[in-house]
Amino acid sequence: MDALEIFTALGTPDGRANPYPHYAALHELGEVVSLGPGAVVVVGYDAINSVLRDAGFRVSDEAALDRDFPGWRDNPVFVQGMDWILNLNAPRHSRIRSLIARAFTARRISGLEPAIARMADDLLDGMAERGADGSVVEFMHDFAYLLPVTVICELIGIPEADREAFRPIARDLAGVFEMHDVATLPAINAAAVELLAYFTGLAAERRANPRDDLITDLLAISDSDDGRLTDAELLHNLTLLLVAGFETTTNLLGNGLQVMLQQPEVGASLAAGSVPAGALVEEALRYDSPVQLTSRVGYPTELCGTKVGDGDSVMTMIGAGNRDPRKFTDPDKFLPLRHEGAPLSFGGGAHFCIGAALARLEGTVAFPRLLSRFPKIAAAGAPVRRETFLLRGFDALPVTIA
Ligand code: HEM
Repeated sequence: MDALEIFTALGTPDGRANPYPHYAALHELGEVVSLGPGAVVVVGYDAINSVLRDAGFRVSDEAALDRDFPGWRDNPVFVQGMDWILNLNAPRHSRIRSLIARAFTARRISGLEPAIARMADDLLDGMAERGADGSVVEFMHDFAYLLPVTVICELIGIPEADREAFRPIARDLAGVFEMHDVATLPAINAAAVELLAYFTGLAAERRANPRDDLITDLLAISDSDDGRLTDAELLHNLTLLLVAGFETTTNLLGNGLQVMLQQPEVGASLAAGSVPAGALVEEALRYDSPVQLTSRVGYPTELCGTKVGDGDSVMTMIGAGNRDPRKFTDPDKFLPLRHEGAPLSFGGGAHFCIGAALARLEGTVAFPRLLSRFPKIAAAGAPVRRETFLLRGFDALPVTIA
């Protein structure tokens, strides 16, 4: 098969269910392959790293949207999205990102650990109640979906009373990453409008009554003389934190548990302490990455012998890079103690995931608690994969815990 045929197979339901044999076939063709004029696919670990760190490769921004979707300004989600740091290039990206990073401190993230442990324990209590008699419990619905969104609410400073109403709206908005059909746009736009209105109200409240939370810190930064973060930039990037941090972390929890259900010895080694939780989380991120790809706009250059043209679509296949046999021995094996380098799952370079430490913390807190609470956790029926490709995870992971 040539590169285009393999890539086409990746987009089929079978390819989405298990992209890994197709990635292996792409690796045999080289680190970088051309799909024909204007499209380049990067699958090698080192090549992906160098594209993400090369400022010549830009993210697709307003200019690209003007060309491909001239009506975008009528859609609130795109108006907000064009302020998201994910979609900005330097110098605007550097300015806004560095201001947000000032509030996203290591102290604020590590300070969340007790709250994450408490929230995880509450959710495990709920699972125990439902599953103590041997009934089937649905891990995605009862745990993996709830923990990350509750943690982001806690981080931002969203009051507990508002959180339940908040979750489905956040989930609707997250649909923007996999939008293949404009028919889903109205729901995504409605979520964007509702979230913005909510954050506008919360910001006014926190300006009047500051608290120890991220939104208060961001307001202080935006209101300070050297702040230069406009209200719109601040509020729009709060919605980004939700969309970027929610389903991704949900999928880390689901994909990680699935490995332990299929290979109980992995969970046993975590419970016995022979594998540290941090190592297990890193390998889970590598083995079945919650984000499978990201993309850049090309500039005239050459990558591992493949020519890239100005404006080419350059797809950096993170999920494939994480299984690159040039980088990882036995890449299809789950080996938490491999120490062969960090996975590409959080990207790299200027857009490196701002929430990586938080996501890692959630995984290292959640997995040991889950396994020590339910040492007999086992699969109970076929898991249901999400049909998405960019974000990889499950809709349902039925388990028994007793
Ligand atoms: C396992 C969970 C997560 C994964 C796999 C993940 C993955 C990624 C990746 C691959 C990128 C880079 C995209 C690119 O280069 O085009 C990224 C960026 C980003 N992530 Fe995450 N993420 C996770 C969790 C989080 C969390 C918890 C938050 C926030 C609370 C977050 C916020 C962001 C933001 C704001 C960006 C944009 C950074 C920028 O463009 O400068 N992520 N993430």
